[in-house]
Parts: sequence; C-alpha cells; structure tokens
Amino acid sequence: TVSFRLGIAGLGTVGASVVRMVERRRAAFTAAGLDLRVTAVSSRDRTRDRGLDLAGIEWFDDPVALARSGSVDCVVELIGGAEGPAKAVVEAALDAGKPVVTANKALLARHGAALATRAEDKGVALAFEAAVAGGIPVIKTLREGLPGNTISRVYGILNGTCNYILSRMEREGLTFEACLKDAQALGYAEADPTFDVEGFDTAHKLAILTSLAFGTAVDAEGVSVEGISRVQPLDLRMADELGYRIKLLGVAQAAEAGIEQRVHPTMVPKSSAIAQVMGVTNAVTIDADAVGELTLIGPGAGGEATASAVVADIADVARGVIRPTFGIPAVAMRPSERVEMQRH
Ligand code: NDP
Ligand code: HSE
Repeated sequence: TVSFRLGIAGLGTVGASVVRMVERRRAAFTAAGLDLRVTAVSSRDRTRDRGLDLAGIEWFDDPVALARSGSVDCVVELIGGAEGPAKAVVEAALDAGKPVVTANKALLARHGAALATRAEDKGVALAFEAAVAGGIPVIKTLREGLPGNTISRVYGILNGTCNYILSRMEREGLTFEACLKDAQALGYAEADPTFDVEGFDTAHKLAILTSLAFGTAVDAEGVSVEGISRVQPLDLRMADELGYRIKLLGVAQAAEAGIEQRVHPTMVPKSSAIAQVMGVTNAVTIDADAVGELTLIGPGAGGEATASAVVADIADVARGVIRPTFGIPAVAMRPSERVEMQRH
C-alpha cells in the first residue's frame, strides 16, 4: 500500500468537497492500494464552520508553510487567483520537490509554462484536470486518449456560470443579475465573477485546451474575448424566434497563420447538440482526423463535480504517474521518466 499525505490549501467550495471525498472514498482507495489521507489544511478563517471534521488534521494559517511541511507529500492548491497565495503555494511545493494538484486555470493560463518548467526540473507532477470543464475528464482525454490523432479544432461551453445564467434567462425570463446571484450562491462562480461573465475564465480554459490539443505553449493573451454581460433578454428572444440559442463558446482551431483562439456569445441552431446543453453543464467537442468528432458533456462547476476531477489527479499522482504538463499531446510517460518538453 502506498501512503500519501495530502495538504489542502483552500477550504472553500472545492477544497471542502475534496476533504469530504477523500474521507468518503477511503475504503475504495485502500482496496486499490492507496492510503490517501488529508494531513494538513490551510484557509484564511480558522473559526468558520465548514461542516468538516478536521480533528487530527494540522492547520496552517500560512499556505506556503503547509506546502513546505514535512507532513505533506502532495499539495492541493484550491485557493484561486493567478497571483498571490495560490502562486506562492504552488511554487513553494514544486521547489520542495512535491507534486501539485490544482484547479486554478487563471494561474495556469498566466504562469503555466514557467510552472511546468519548475515541475519538470524537479521531476514532479503538476496536475490540473479540474481546471477545465469541472467534472469532465477532458485533460485526460486530450493527453492520453488520442495519440493517433491530429486535432484540428477544440470548442465548447467551458463556463458553467455563463451557461447557467443564459439558460435561466431564456427559460425562466429571469434577469442577468438574479441568475448570477444564484450561480454565486451555488458555488459555481469565481471569487470575482467578472472572470466568468466577461469570458476570461473561458479564455483561460481554452488556452489550456489549446496547448494540449495542438502542442503549443499556453497563450491566454492570444485569445480574443467577449463575454455575456451585454446579452439582453431581447437578444435571447430574437434568437429563439429565429430558431437559435445563444451560448458562450470558446473555440480553438488550426488556421493558416497558426492557432486561432476566440471566446464569444454564439447563435447555435436549437436543433444542434450543443444547444441542448443547459444549466451548469459544459460540453467540449474535439475534431480529430481518426475519431472524427468527439463530444464530452458533464457538470462544469460545483464542489462535488470539481472535487471528482481533483481526486482523480490525486490518485494518479499517488500512483506515481507523471505526464508532460503541457505541450506534448497524448504521450504518456513512465513514472520514473524525466520529462523533456518540446516548446513551440
Ligand atoms: P472559494 O472562494 O470557495 O475558496 C477559496 C478558498 O481559499 C477559501 O477557503 C479561502 O479561505 C481560501 N483562501 C483564500 N486566501 C487564502 C490564503 N491567503 N491562505 C489560505 N487560504 C486562502 O473558491 P472555490 O473553491 O470555488 O475555487 C477554488 C479554485 O478552484 C479556484 O482556482 C477556482 O477557479 C477553481 N475552480 C472552482 C470551481 C467551482 O465550481 N467552484 C470549478 C473548477 C475550478 P476562507 O474560506 O477562510 O475565506
Ligand atoms: N466559475 C467556473 C465556471 C468554475 O462557472 O465554470 C468552473 O471552472
């Protein structure tokens, strides 16, 4: 049995669900030869009741100290944000030679290449299944599932909050503000919901998918972005009358000049598969030469669905699986193999 001690930095919507899930699935992991245990946690407010039993778990006010603690084998970063404590925790963990699991697409979109180099220099994993499309195993699919394919396009609904807002505005005639408030209360939205509604969160996720699909460096700056904050109920009604729905899509496709990446509200025919994707659900379509069109549909946000992806990464990392962080699509590595990245 492999014993693996987890330090969870951030006990919000996702972090609290991860702590519960690791406990709930303990017997199943033990049966599979993995003794997973949360040994340390960090959050800002020590006094808040999170409905968690933290008895016997070490508390750190400073998440960087958690990352460096001798009682932690793997750091799970669930604080959020491209800078500040999230970045400091991830860097401290990698520098200490510890694998990192994160759901932080903003961090990866901005600093992914530098963090990948840090991880590779230390020969440890930097895993981020939860960073794109919540509970859908799309990172695994792109990285491991399609090595015989050349991918020409990846697109989809990548933000649960926006799809939830557009769906409820259309179906229930609610205001944008009321729907956003509900998405926040349900734990779907980012700490700063501007990232959701202005399309930046979709752009961050798209940049990560692009890197894996096309073997290029993560380039969130290169995404052209328009969000949904200016979509009016009248727009939805007009689209409806014409036989369309409005969806916020992220699209990355191979073009003559390179890889084109864009995020914008899009009219999709009501009869299309993507138009059926409602609520917090996400959908990712991959166009590849051998398989043709492959679509994954599932929950795009929320504590439990996202924890599912985080825990999948934890299990992989505990088993010693290390894969190239970005850049080389669909090429698996043996655990002990040193990762040499191709950069473009
Ligand atoms: P929350 O805002 O719910 O949780 C963030 C947590 O970080 C809080 O527990 C907060 O502490 C803690 N925190 C903030 N600053 C510090 C600090 N300096 N030191 C220690 N802890 C700190 O966010 P989510 O759980 O929703 O999101 C976490 C990450 O997961 C983000 O990167 C997000 O983008 C990503 N994600 C979220 C999804 C979702 O559906 N919510 C889905 C996919 C990814 P305290 O509670 O004490 O205030
Ligand atoms: N705020 C994000 C969303 C969380 O609504 O999709 C999941 O990444």
